[in-house]
Amino acid sequence: MMVNRKILTLDEFTIQQLRQFPTATGELSSLLRDMGLAAKRVNVEVNKAGLVDILGDAGSINIQGEDVKKLDVYANNQFMGALKHGISCAGIGSEELDDFVIFDDEVSNNSKYVVLFDPLDGSGNIDVNISIGTIFSVYRRVSPKGSPCTREDFLQPGNRQVAAGYIIYGSSTMLVYATKRGVNGFTLDPSIGEFCLSHPNIQCPESGNFYSVNHGYFFQYQKGVQQYITACQKKTKSEGGPYTQRYIGSMVADVHRNLLKGGIFMYPGTDSKPNGKLRLLYECNPLAFIIEVAGGKATNGEQRILDIQPQQLHQRSPLFIGSKLMMEELENYLMQNK
Ligand code: AHG
Ligand code: MN
Ligand code: MN
Ligand code: MN
Repeated sequence: MMVNRKILTLDEFTIQQLRQFPTATGELSSLLRDMGLAAKRVNVEVNKAGLVDILGDAGSINIQGEDVKKLDVYANNQFMGALKHGISCAGIGSEELDDFVIFDDEVSNNSKYVVLFDPLDGSGNIDVNISIGTIFSVYRRVSPKGSPCTREDFLQPGNRQVAAGYIIYGSSTMLVYATKRGVNGFTLDPSIGEFCLSHPNIQCPESGNFYSVNHGYFFQYQKGVQQYITACQKKTKSEGGPYTQRYIGSMVADVHRNLLKGGIFMYPGTDSKPNGKLRLLYECNPLAFIIEVAGGKATNGEQRILDIQPQQLHQRSPLFIGSKLMMEELENYLMQNK
């Protein structure tokens, strides 16, 4: 039987990339393998979520006041476990854990990276069979190797990310990750249990006709945001309009669509929640890094997401992210209404 050797697996791809950097140690490839392994385990549970006792609430509330789902906890433990057992990661920060976790063992103290992640994004959609995801961000530690990593290693601005990625558990399961060199997407082939390179060198179209925002909060958004949303609805046919509104409630799925097809995703602040809902370190930063490498833009309405100096693990930020020209049009409306 002929074997299709044209399609690279995730491991083959990262190892090929490594070859181009003679000084590279392979720790990033190894870290991505750890993330891929945990993702496959989570994928199995997500897929049988209707069959076994994995749906529903875990019965606890996380530090941000959200009801925790059983799959939130399961995914958190899988990613944390895979990173702890691997050789590349000195510590983690997660949406579902109150504070950073410093691994502090002989191997981890000599590891090069720290990882921040949202184990399950869109977890409100778990019980209703809608796409959910995982989002992660990788930084090179700034503290010296040989001892446990420190808080400073985690509180670096997004422009210092070495890599960022997400997994989407959808009609197929995909892992997309970016380094400064490019964004690549891998689809899980369930017959062999491997992520295979299906979307090489992803570029975000300069413009598109999708806009993703929670319309329910329309009247709580600032004037500039309201005007931009209205402009999306008023686009003429020759401008590609009216734009299509798509909002799944799983940011990772909304941003994935807009990354591939062209579009804009917004989670603005409101009067009562000026920083919106999304978390800077493990939701906004990784997606901002990916979209920028792919040619798009991401801001908090005032500055580039990646330039924000983080102060704490769970801090929130408004997020506007997507195709370059759509972002520029939005920025004009925001500026005019300052
Ligand atoms: P998480 O499930 O990780 O807590 O994140 C949910 C986020 C994001 O995925 C989604 O876009 C947003 O919450 C939806 O919030 P609203 O229901 O307020 O629109
Ligand atoms: Mn949550
Ligand atoms: Mn999330
Ligand atoms: Mn989450």
